[in-house]
Amino acid sequence: MADPNRIAIITGGARGIGRAIARKLAADGVDTVISDVAADAAEATAREMEKLGVRALAVRADVSQIGDVAALMKRTIQEFGTVDFLINNAGITRDNLSIRMSEAEWDAVLDVNLKGTFLCSQAAAREMMKRRFGRIVNIASVSGILGTAGQANYASSKAGIIALTKSMARELGSRNITVNAVAPGFILTEMTEKLPENVKEGYIAQIPLKRAGTPEDVADGVGFLISPAARYITGTVLNVSGGLLI
Ligand code: NAI
Repeated sequence: MADPNRIAIITGGARGIGRAIARKLAADGVDTVISDVAADAAEATAREMEKLGVRALAVRADVSQIGDVAALMKRTIQEFGTVDFLINNAGITRDNLSIRMSEAEWDAVLDVNLKGTFLCSQAAAREMMKRRFGRIVNIASVSGILGTAGQANYASSKAGIIALTKSMARELGSRNITVNAVAPGFILTEMTEKLPENVKEGYIAQIPLKRAGTPEDVADGVGFLISPAARYITGTVLNVSGGLLI
């Protein structure tokens, strides 16, 4: 259970893992700001959260654009007065073997996944510091620890997120702000459904729990890290992979 009546921003919250996180938080009584580049889908998800009995707001923002991030934070403060929880979930893939990877593929993934996480965390931390409370959870990936063939850009961005998590945890701890990461393994969402069947089966064969993860499996990990039960946990990476990474 999260503290009641708190305010969360979930980036990339319109669908997939982000939407499951929003549902989990809303079910625990947290007001949610659903931020995404997909404006209509974000709006639909925000309306779904309201049906769970919390206040919700949809804000179109590209996390890689500093102006969008500033506007997201401003709108959140205008509407709800504060931000208690930031879930940096927005992420993309542009897979290719490194020898073939274009500069554009590299830049797009690093900009959204790593720079976006930095920009949102910086903006939220400035607000959280004023109130001496904050919980930041960054969605990394087991790729950022193991590396993945065909995903040098993505794995590098996720490894960067883990280092960013640990660095900000050290900087912000004295202000009662915790910064943690969740590293999902193979989770069934629109991001992974385009993978070839044999690749999906290959992942499942390597998972000790013998199934792909669900967005709800990840959301429960996030729910724990923002809950009072995790108050003495910062700078950690929670591996939610069914044992894919041990
Ligand atoms: P998804 O592709 O289903 O959803 C991602 C959401 O982020 C979409 O709503 C999209 O519109 C939004 N988004 C994309 N670029 C954005 C930007 N520049 N600014 C704001 N929003 C943006 O992906 P999924 O699977 O739900 O992934 C969510 C997070 O979980 C990502 O960070 C991903 O890397 C991570 N993850 C996913 C895994 C999986 O197996 N699906 C495994 C490990 C990590």
